[in-house]
Amino acid sequence: MYTTLKEVTATATELNFTVGAFNAHNLEMLPEMIRAAKEMGAPIIIQTSVDTAKYIGYEVLVSVVKTMAENEMVDAVLHLDHARNFDDIKEAIDQGYTSVMYDGSHLPFKENILKTKAVVEYAHKHGVSVEGELGTIGGTEEGIHVAENDKVYTKPEDALAFVEATGIDALAIAIGTNHGQFKSKTEVNLPLLKEIHAIVDIPLVIHGGTGVKEEDYPELINNGIRKFNVGTELLVNWTKMAKESFEETAVNKSLRYNVIPANEVCHDIVKHKIGLFMNSNSPLQVR
Ligand code: 13P
Repeated sequence: MYTTLKEVTATATELNFTVGAFNAHNLEMLPEMIRAAKEMGAPIIIQTSVDTAKYIGYEVLVSVVKTMAENEMVDAVLHLDHARNFDDIKEAIDQGYTSVMYDGSHLPFKENILKTKAVVEYAHKHGVSVEGELGTIGGTEEGIHVAENDKVYTKPEDALAFVEATGIDALAIAIGTNHGQFKSKTEVNLPLLKEIHAIVDIPLVIHGGTGVKEEDYPELINNGIRKFNVGTELLVNWTKMAKESFEETAVNKSLRYNVIPANEVCHDIVKHKIGLFMNSNSPLQVR
């Protein structure tokens, strides 16, 4: 079923797992991500940046995810990641995305509340879920620096006030993760997560999932993380495999031969991550 963030995270909360949210950068990698979720019998969140949505087309992305969700019988959500502009969010909602993130984490607290609330009002009227962000998650997104300020951890009491004032469906928190960290792993601040989880009762979201140690997943899941973003790991490995294939190819050989192996790497990574997210551990077997 083509569904919402609110729906899939409600199931995840009930059954104590986390839903993988995977960034798609092109149309090629997307079907394999959904097929991987189908094989695992798990829901999946496909997310795109605003720039990727504009590159592929909001409507095209909606058609692909919706059609595959229905045909493959997978619970799939299409989510707009890190949007800062209301017009982009409106466009995504009007074209049929089922979830959006308004990222006001760079703004003063009160302004973040007001702008997030305006997004919630519009989104909820259209049956669309909203993720907000509090604190700053550092690093890079698509190779571009995302947080202007130095890293600021999410304060539990601010998180509670923010959730109550905005009516968001999920909250992205800053507990030590960084976007785009693929050469090393980070130390997540588990005591801080526990403090936030003790007082905030909506689904919590991890950004910068590539840099999180897999052995930390169970503690994160057991403490309220219901959406787990992974982008860079897919991007890096798709690109590595495509580089290898394109390096060797004859220029008149079908592009399929170069792109399919890269898509299959994404399939395997998504399947492996979902195994860990569902607490059903499937070993990574890259073809
Ligand atoms: P990574 O690219 O570091 O996995 O983070 C993804 C993410 O959080 C998207 O918002």
